[in-house]
Amino acid sequence: MGLAENQLCFDLIEEWIRNNPKASICTKEGVNCFKYIANFQDYHGLPEFRKAVANFMSKVRGGRVRFDPDRILMSGGATGANELIMFCLADPGDAFLVPSPYYPAFVRDLCWRTRAQLIPVECHSSNNFKITTEALDEAYNKAKEDNINVKGLIITNPSNPLGTTMDRETLKSIVGFINEKNIHLVCDEIYAATVFRAPSFVSVSEVMHEIEHCNSDLIHIIYSLSKDLGLPGFRVGIVYSYNDGVVNNGRKMSSFGLVSSQTQHFLAALLSDENFVERFLAESSRRLAARHSHFTKGLEKVNITCLPSNAGLFCWMNLRSLLKEKTFEGEMMQWRLIINEVKLNVSPGSSFDCSEPGWYRVCFANMDDETVDVALKRIRAFVGKETGKPVELKRCKSNLRLSFSSRRFDENVMSPHMMSPHSPMPHSPLVRAT
Ligand SMILES: Cc1ncc(COP(=O)(O)O)c(C=O)c1O
Repeated sequence: MGLAENQLCFDLIEEWIRNNPKASICTKEGVNCFKYIANFQDYHGLPEFRKAVANFMSKVRGGRVRFDPDRILMSGGATGANELIMFCLADPGDAFLVPSPYYPAFVRDLCWRTRAQLIPVECHSSNNFKITTEALDEAYNKAKEDNINVKGLIITNPSNPLGTTMDRETLKSIVGFINEKNIHLVCDEIYAATVFRAPSFVSVSEVMHEIEHCNSDLIHIIYSLSKDLGLPGFRVGIVYSYNDGVVNNGRKMSSFGLVSSQTQHFLAALLSDENFVERFLAESSRRLAARHSHFTKGLEKVNITCLPSNAGLFCWMNLRSLLKEKTFEGEMMQWRLIINEVKLNVSPGSSFDCSEPGWYRVCFANMDDETVDVALKRIRAFVGKETGKPVELKRCKSNLRLSFSSRRFDENVMSPHMMSPHSPMPHSPLVRAT
């Protein structure tokens, strides 16, 4: 439950692959293209791929905005895209503001190799963790007092870990803020199509046109197919910048993290099938809604609430009332109990730099229905024990156990230790050259 993967719609993609053998260069129907694709190495990318991605991005945003294929830069997932944009915008020592709680791997992606730094903007549960201009001003002014050069603000919308979409007014105030300070705004919209109920997703690409004198040179979107299509292994990341300098320089740098031409070729065909894309997006959001509702209702039965959410592949679960100590040490004690005794790998709020102890991100879209029910039973048993109201559990036939591949283990289980607010900022693992 620590991995934000979307495994709910693989069957739809598999069916499309069976019906479209020409899309692969490894079939007798598609092998004619082998030579051309195997040899392709232009770092602008296949034109049909960029066009298909631009159309897909527009479709995900309800067709309300259009994207220019010539502004699309490729990278190895949103991970590479986030690093690429930082290389373009920040010098070593420069800072980006980031509302907390935030995606823990931002520290790795945005800082490790660029030597930029992150400055958290504290958000609180009292207003459902909304970003306020007061909080932005406070973080910005404090950085200035400390002589730190603030180069920009990065937001994730929809939010990881909150699972919420940003309302139009908040987004407008953020665009106003970065214009007033003349700093960059990077919007990581990797979860754009995981929205499963109202309010619908509003992209910065829509809002920027509604703001008078908005400097579009300051606005950059990060996108990826890892979450919306559930293809993190394909490593398709996108920087979409409205700034010509970033597009030109970023394109040169994107040669370090291009998407394989075989993947581009396949996805160009898949994403250009408009009927498929429409059906996929509708079905994916229907399945996410059903899973989210099943999971949160299961938690409500033992009075566990989550932050009200409408997007993402996770819930932001509130276990504050069960904390023995209302501190981050108390949270770590509770987390250890959950992982070692309850046998659930949920991620504590401290790993997202949350300012309040007792919140957990719980992923629900990387497993089948049976596994969700096992998880719910374990959580209910845990709450029963903690509150002295034992829950009757039917024995469930299951051979589920914790198993991690090494990469997954690193990213998720390690993160609480690395990213806890009490630990120093992790240093890059790069070995010094001698
Ligand atoms: C907000 C956010 N940005 C970026 C990433 C990295 O995604 P990718 O697999 O495309 O590198 C993730 C993955 O969890 C994420 O949640």
